[in-house]
Amino acid sequence: MEQFNLLFNRKPDASFLRMLFPNGILPLSSLPFGAGFTQDLTDSYKRYATAAPQIEGAWDKDGKGPSTWDTLAHTSGRVIDASTADDATRSYDLFKEDVKLMKSYGVNAYRFSLSWSRIIPLGGKDDPVNEAGISFYSSLIDELIANDITPFVTLFHWDVPQALEDRYKSMLDQEKYTPDFVRYANVCFERFGDRVKHWITYNEPGVYALAGYAGGAHAPNRSSDRSKYAEGDTSKEPWIVGHTQLVSHAHAYHLYKRDFAPKQNGTIGITLSGNWSAPWDAEDPKDRAAAQRALEFEIAWFADPVHGSGDYPASMRKQLGDRLPTFTAEEKKLVNGSSDFYGMNTYTAFFVRDKVPEGEPIPPEDHKGNLAWSDENKEGVSRGLESDTEWLRSSPWGFANLLRWIWDRYHKPIYVTENGTTMKGEHVTAPPSEHVLNDTHRIDFYRSYVGELAKAVKDGGIDIRSYFGWTLLDNWEWAKGYTDRFGVTWVDFESEEKTRYPKRSAAFNREYFKHLIAQ
Ligand code: GAL
Repeated sequence: MEQFNLLFNRKPDASFLRMLFPNGILPLSSLPFGAGFTQDLTDSYKRYATAAPQIEGAWDKDGKGPSTWDTLAHTSGRVIDASTADDATRSYDLFKEDVKLMKSYGVNAYRFSLSWSRIIPLGGKDDPVNEAGISFYSSLIDELIANDITPFVTLFHWDVPQALEDRYKSMLDQEKYTPDFVRYANVCFERFGDRVKHWITYNEPGVYALAGYAGGAHAPNRSSDRSKYAEGDTSKEPWIVGHTQLVSHAHAYHLYKRDFAPKQNGTIGITLSGNWSAPWDAEDPKDRAAAQRALEFEIAWFADPVHGSGDYPASMRKQLGDRLPTFTAEEKKLVNGSSDFYGMNTYTAFFVRDKVPEGEPIPPEDHKGNLAWSDENKEGVSRGLESDTEWLRSSPWGFANLLRWIWDRYHKPIYVTENGTTMKGEHVTAPPSEHVLNDTHRIDFYRSYVGELAKAVKDGGIDIRSYFGWTLLDNWEWAKGYTDRFGVTWVDFESEEKTRYPKRSAAFNREYFKHLIAQ
């Protein structure tokens, strides 16, 4: 099986260093090569990840049905720059250009998602399949394979067909929703599984449940906050939606294993979000307990049922009581073990402590485990350098701790399926200056995180099999619209052609990985 394999005796060559630092922008001492060595990571899958609603555009083209994100984007006041994803980066039309770009970036794998309502416009188990949608994804897959880029396909990256929301409130009705999702999965396995060997059922079920049903800023805009949202119940719905995702994921997993894997020989799993949480005061047992609880509410919520104990963590049951659904015996059996790997999306780290003091009641709307967050710990140590995104700071130290925590708790091969950053100052009009394209903050981010990943493999003995940077192109960052640029490619959103300008991080990653990974 593919696994990073480390050799520690190569020197970075002069042309590589010149390429990285043409203007001497970064000090050589900042390279992770230490005393003149680098690591080779063999056979890993690398770079980049995207999601259909963020890049495809063509929101109503060739028979595609609307998704809940299309509805959100067309509702006034829901997206901070009032933009839509109607065109996004136009990757539906320009996918060949994207593949070419990836080729030039030295990419050997691409993680992207399928739009459910492009494939089944009305979404349901008895609704017709849209052949134009199938043929689009077929062409994309063929183009990738022709360019030696391995497709990693996510079935669900947050865009529920609007018709299912209208029919029965989608994931709030587990019984009706599950067969619809499983049939969609079946169509995808049937039509693409001859070429796709890496499947991810859900992307970040936790973020989907909390941002859409607790905070309410994401589709389908449900929350108890009546000043902003007409419907929803923050105290209950996120937990129901989480449960529906787990159970429907497990059904799709077993369907694949039973009916497709024996012939198609692929792998399938689920990708979870998760950031590191550290105690604000490392000496205080209460803060240490808060940090552990934070990890359990954010990560173990899904990871324990799938990869661990088979049930929700005790800390969640204690705080949420009956509002957290219970697994039936049959569901438990279905869900536990239903992922061939640990799919890991991660970005940053936080310092935490209790929000409501011990003994006082925690409001039923609390959905994070009763936490207060700080950018610095008690000693004044910062969690990391700021990006252009409030919650996101560069915290490679947290990434290192998180890899260890996940590996120790679940012992599953890890696929890092998303990791990346925004950078201040990238919001300019075209053409972007050399200064903007020289994205040193992002280069630093990738260098330090991938450096930690290499150490985790070499020193920590952790089995890590992929690294996907988020993301290939600046794109439509959900309710943030076009204001958050996460790409290694700067995109001119004003232009008809959505002109792409490679940032220096793209070249950095190409060369960095060439040295880290034996080709
Ligand atoms: C993830 C999400 C991506 C992207 C990224 C950056 O949670 O899966 O779609 O938006 O965050 O914020």
